[in-house]
Amino acid sequence: MPVGADVDIVTARQKGRELAAQCGLSSTDLAVVATAISELARNIVRYAVRGEIVLRRVENGTKRGIEVVATDDGPGISDVPLAMQDGYSTSGGLGLGLPGVRRLMDEFDIVSRFGKGTTVTVKKWRR
Ligand SMILES: Nc1ncnc2c1ncn2[C@@H]1O[C@H](COP(=O)(O)OP(=O)(O)OP(=O)(O)O)[C@@H](O)[C@H]1O
Ligand SMILES: [Mg+2]
Repeated sequence: MPVGADVDIVTARQKGRELAAQCGLSSTDLAVVATAISELARNIVRYAVRGEIVLRRVENGTKRGIEVVATDDGPGISDVPLAMQDGYSTSGGLGLGLPGVRRLMDEFDIVSRFGKGTTVTVKKWRR
């Protein structure tokens, strides 16, 4: 789904919560998934202006869960390891979004090319 305004953040968060519920995640993990989606969508709007969030069910052997892919063609991140550190922000934010998402989710992957864009892929498995 496209993300280009604050209202889209709310919609993405809601859709993620619904899909996570369908995947059988606990109520705590529904909140975790919703929070992760909010942070990733907020980053898209703030830094890349627009992008998209793709939500899907995933399976790996007997594991089932939800995958969130947040992608944009924005400015990219020049130093990804630095951006993953607590407190690093180029916008006067808390700098806790990306590291928080990494801690909250079971799997986390970020690919960013400076000047090209950013894709963050995260997964939460049903416990
Ligand atoms: N989609 C993106 N495109 C370009 N830069 C990004 C993107 N997402 C994050 N960044 C960069 O990574 C930094 C760290 O992101 P993070 O979400 O952790 O913190 P923040 O957005 O600055 O503050 P917070 O999320 O705590 O309000 C950002 O300040 C920004 O420079
Ligand atoms: Mg952020």
